This record gives sequence, structure tokens and C-alpha cells, in this order.
Amino acid sequence: MNPDSAGARHRSEWVPGLVILLVTVGVITAGVRIQRVLEASKPSTPILFDHGLTPLTLRAPSTWTNQQCGTCHPRAFEQWQGSRHAAAATNKKFRVECIEPIGGRRQWCINCHAPTNPSAGHLPTQEPVGLDSLFSDQPRWLVNGVDCLTCHVRDGKVLATRITSKGEAAHPLRLSPELETAEFCGGCHQFAFKSDQYGDEFHGQLQQVSMEEFLDFRRGGGSEQNCQNCHMPAGDHLMPGGYNNEMLKQSLDLDLDARWQDQPGGINVSISVIAQGVGHRLPGGEHFRFLSLHTNLRNADDPPRQYTLAEPTAEQLPPPAAAGQVQEVTDWPRIQIMRRNPGPRERGRSPGADAVPDTRLFPGERRTFRYFVPANTVDADSPLVISAELWYHKMGDLDARRFGFETPEVIHTVLRKEQAVRRGTGR
Ligand code: HEC
Ligand code: HEC
Ligand code: HEC
Ligand code: HEC
Ligand code: HEC
Repeated sequence: MNPDSAGARHRSEWVPGLVILLVTVGVITAGVRIQRVLEASKPSTPILFDHGLTPLTLRAPSTWTNQQCGTCHPRAFEQWQGSRHAAAATNKKFRVECIEPIGGRRQWCINCHAPTNPSAGHLPTQEPVGLDSLFSDQPRWLVNGVDCLTCHVRDGKVLATRITSKGEAAHPLRLSPELETAEFCGGCHQFAFKSDQYGDEFHGQLQQVSMEEFLDFRRGGGSEQNCQNCHMPAGDHLMPGGYNNEMLKQSLDLDLDARWQDQPGGINVSISVIAQGVGHRLPGGEHFRFLSLHTNLRNADDPPRQYTLAEPTAEQLPPPAAAGQVQEVTDWPRIQIMRRNPGPRERGRSPGADAVPDTRLFPGERRTFRYFVPANTVDADSPLVISAELWYHKMGDLDARRFGFETPEVIHTVLRKEQAVRRGTGR
């Protein structure tokens, strides 16, 4: 065989190989370019939340964890650890409600309480994967609840209100003025009652109304621009609310005044509850929170009354008094409830049902209750003591029993005042 022709054949075998290689490289390069163009044109993941309807997609490197953010941002991490956001998916009440056949068992719940859950693509009404073992297995996304990644990471970038070169060197940043808006919080903190049957159905009034109430407050001249002004002073990630007694104490005040009068003989009692430094109705948040005001009259020698049960039945409650109206009181304690307790009408289930009034305090409101105690119903010649206590309830007694809480776990006394009253002394 001619060695030349062998070489030519060799070469002719070699050429198609080269062509294939070049074409492949070309295709890959073009592919990468197209990929980049597509990537750049992909809409960036929204920063604002949509009331739990769609699960959050982070598109972050899998090595990014909450704990890792904490190593470089220890202050924010510690504050967050003490917050309800950190406990959002593991607290007892959520756990119990989340696995209840009626109302719970929905992807919707964990989209807000543990938004980094892995169930992308699930409809809000679908049952989360492995729900029954979720709370015993406690995957990391559940334990972290509403975590750093939830609020700060989209498309592999850290959301920040300020871009610095030090920050960019640590991780890619995306300038996100949204973080400083009330809507950012409102995406999770306001929503309607959700049908457990239809994914697209909400019904009735809002279940949580924080955003609307805040907008009313701001329109009405409230000086705060957003939720963060009150809930994140100096960037504090504790974000305290009703679970924080300090926050409650600074937002409420109590005035008590009791005086004897001669004609007709008896005691005039005036008690005012004042809501201050709050940017929505009080209590805010979930509809099962409420306040109760307990007024009691006793002989000065008797020990203060020990209360055991908090929530009075409808029959035990005094009829609601018109503003400023004086109510004659002969039995103690006298209890007033400040609450929004949506019934079938408010929940949109039975439009003909009786309306349940929302009696919570307005921001800045001073609400006064006036009682008259007839002289013949008390031991008028002894020194008497009138006391008022304001209690915050994380939930009603029925719920507490259902979820296995002791009364002291769900109620705390926010404020207490007392005053001595003696006949003839004026006060
Ligand atoms: C519920 C949402 C939320 C969570 C959870 C959250 N942050 Fe923030 N973070 C914010 C908001 C909103 C701001 C902007 C506050 C402002 O500027 O008014 C912020 C600001 C910051 C800042 C810059 C401002 C400062 O003074 O600290 C850092 C750093 C930060 N967060 C880190 C973290 C880390 C780390 C975690 C997890 C431990 C975390 N955040 C969890 C909402 C959140
Ligand atoms: C290796 C350390 C490191 C890690 C890990 C880290 N950061 Fe940072 N981060 C920094 C530094 C440094 C800055 C710049 C701070 C400055 O400019 O004062 C910064 C800036 C920020 C800012 C803007 C701060 C501002 O003043 O507005 C936010 C928000 C933030 N990081 C959140 C996070 C979150 C969320 C994570 C986890 C996903 C994270 N960081 C992980 C080091 C880190
Ligand atoms: C991803 C959803 C989500 C976002 C965004 C979010 N929260 Fe929350 N927040 C929750 C959940 C869920 C809880 C309930 C935790 C629990 O189970 O008690 C909560 C609880 C709270 C509480 C109650 C604390 C208490 O002591 O009772 C406050 C206050 C609060 N958040 C403020 C904010 C503020 C301010 C922002 C905006 C900067 C914000 N949240 C953004 C989901 C969110
Ligand atoms: C002017 C200050 C102020 C503003 C503005 C404000 N809050 Fe509050 N918030 C408070 C105070 C004080 C409390 C504690 C009293 C209470 O529970 O209502 C509170 C309580 C809460 C609670 C817990 C309610 C409970 O008892 O379970 C939530 C949730 C909450 N706020 C969310 C928000 C959201 C969301 C916004 C913005 C849309 C906002 N707040 C705006 C002051 C404010
Ligand atoms: C759109 C977001 C969102 C969805 C969806 C959602 N929640 Fe919440 N949930 C919140 C916020 C915000 C709070 C805090 C309000 C407060 O503290 O008063 C809260 C508070 C709670 C609490 C009170 C926790 C405590 O210990 O005081 C329970 C329980 C709860 N949610 C259960 C559920 C269940 C069950 C579902 C599903 C049926 C659900 N949530 C759906 C946002 C959401």
C-alpha cells in the first residue's frame, strides 16, 4: 500500500473528528452565551411576600445557611434567636394547629412560618410532604422558622439597604429599599381567612389586619413611616410584640380614680386604659389575642383576690357601655374585654349571623370605664381598696386547654393599680 495514500486516508479520517470537535465547542460556547443572556433576562425573584400563596425560591448556593450568616453577623443573629420569627414553626401552638385536620395541614401555613421549606411548586391547599413526621424529625428549615435567608436572600444575592465594598467582598449584594417598607412586613402580616378547600379562595374579613391598621394610623398623622421604626429600632432583630412584656408595658397605661359621694351615697370609680406608641389596633396581630381589664373592690384587711380563670363566658360579661356611661356595679370583679373575635359572619361563612364588634383599642386611644358602687352594697365604714389589673392574653382559655397550655403560660398581667377609698375623705 502507498504510504502516502495511507497518510491521506489518515488525514481524511482526522478531519471530520476536528470538525465535530470545533462544532461541539462552538455549540457549547453559544449555549453558554445564550444561557447567560437568558439568565440576565430572567425576572429577579420578588422581594415582597405574597401572603403565603407561593413558596419562596431562594436560588442561593446550598452552602449558605442561617448559622453561617450568624458567624459574621453575631448581633443580628443573637437578637433573631430570641425572636418569635425564630420560633415561628416550632412553637407548640403552631405545631398543634398545623397538623389539625380542620384548618391546618396546609402548605400555606409553612409558606409563612418556615418559608425556606423545600416544597416549591406545591399549591397552598396541598398537604406538606411528610407532615406527620415533620415536627419529630425537625428539618433545619423548620427549626429556623422565619430566618435570615427568608428576609435577606434572593437569586444568590444578599438583600441590603446599603451597599458597601466590604459587604460586596463578603457576598453579592442587591440594593433593596423594599426592606424599609411596611409592605415588606405586610406580605406576611396581613391576610384573609383561607378556604381549606380551594387554593384560590379567601373569604370574609382579614384574619390579620396589621397593614391596613398601620396605614390608617399613618394617614391619621402617625409619625412612624413603617413597622421597622417601632419593631426594629437601630436594626434590632428581636422584633418584639405581644410576647414581650416590656413592649406591652410601654404601649399601655392605666389610670384609676375612685371617690366617695354623698348623694346618692356610694363610690364613683373611673378607670382609663391608654394605648400609646402603637401603630395599629391593640392587641395587633392574630385575632385570638385580647386584653382584659379586671376591677375589684375589697376591704383593706382582705388579701388581694387571686384570679384563677381569665376568660369570662358571654353571660358573665357586662353589657357593653356607651362611651362615658356610668354602670352601677354590685358584684366583683368587674371584667371588660378588648377583643376582635371573628364569628361566622366575619369569617364569611354565614353572612346573616350576628356581627361581633371589634373592641380593641385604637392607637392613641384613652378608653374610660365609669362605675358607681352604691353605699349599701359595701362595708361602707371600713377602709376599702379598689384595684385594676390589665391582662394580655396570648389566646383564649378554650384554645389554651385545647393546645395543652396552663393559664399562666398564656396570660400575663401587664399593669396593676390600686387605691384606698374611705367614706367622707373625698377619695
Ligand atoms: C423578618 C425579616 C428579617 C429577618 C428574619 C432577618 N432580617 Fe436582617 N433585616 C431586616 C430588615 C427589614 C432590615 C432593614 C432594617 C432597616 O434598615 O430599617 C434588616 C437589616 C439587617 C442588617 C443591616 C442593618 C443592621 O443594622 O444590622 C443585617 C446585617 C442583617 N439584617 C442581618 C440579618 C441576619 C444575620 C439575620 C438572621 C440571623 C437576619 N438579618 C434576619 C429583616 C430581617
Ligand atoms: C464571611 C463573613 C460574612 C458572611 C458569612 C455573611 N456576611 Fe453579610 N456582610 C459581611 C460584611 C463584612 C458586610 C459589610 C458590613 C459593612 O459594610 O459594615 C456584610 C454586609 C451585610 C448586609 C448589609 C449590611 C448593612 O449595613 O446594610 C447584610 C444585610 C448582610 N450582610 C446579611 C448577611 C446574610 C443574610 C448572610 C447569610 C446569607 C450574610 N450576611 C453572610 C460579612 C458576612
Ligand atoms: C416571611 C414572613 C414574615 C415576614 C416577612 C415578617 N414576619 Fe413577623 N412574623 C411572622 C410569623 C410567622 C410570626 C409568628 C411567630 C409565632 O408563631 O409566634 C411573626 C411574628 C412577628 C411579631 C410578633 C412578636 C411577638 O412577640 O408577638 C412581630 C412584632 C413581627 N413578626 C414583626 C415583623 C416585622 C416588623 C416585619 C418586617 C420587618 C416582619 N415581622 C416580617 C412572619 C413574618
Ligand atoms: C408606632 C409603633 C408601631 C408601629 C408603627 C407598628 N407597631 Fe406593631 N406593635 C407595636 C407595639 C407597641 C406592640 C405591642 C402591643 C400589641 O401587642 O399590640 C406591637 C405589636 C405587634 C404585633 C404582635 C401583636 C400581638 O399581640 O400578637 C405584631 C404582629 C405587630 N405589632 C406587627 C406590626 C406590623 C406588621 C406593623 C407594620 C405594618 C407594625 N406592627 C407597626 C408598635 C408598633
Ligand atoms: C401570610 C402568612 C401566614 C400564613 C399563611 C399563616 N400564618 Fe400563622 N401567623 C402569621 C403571623 C404574621 C403571625 C404573628 C401574629 C401575632 O403574633 O399576633 C402568626 C401567628 C400564628 C400563630 C400564633 C403562635 C403563638 O404561639 O402565639 C399560630 C398558632 C399560627 N399563626 C398558625 C398558623 C396556621 C395553622 C396556619 C395555616 C392554617 C397559618 N398560621 C398560616 C402569618 C401567617
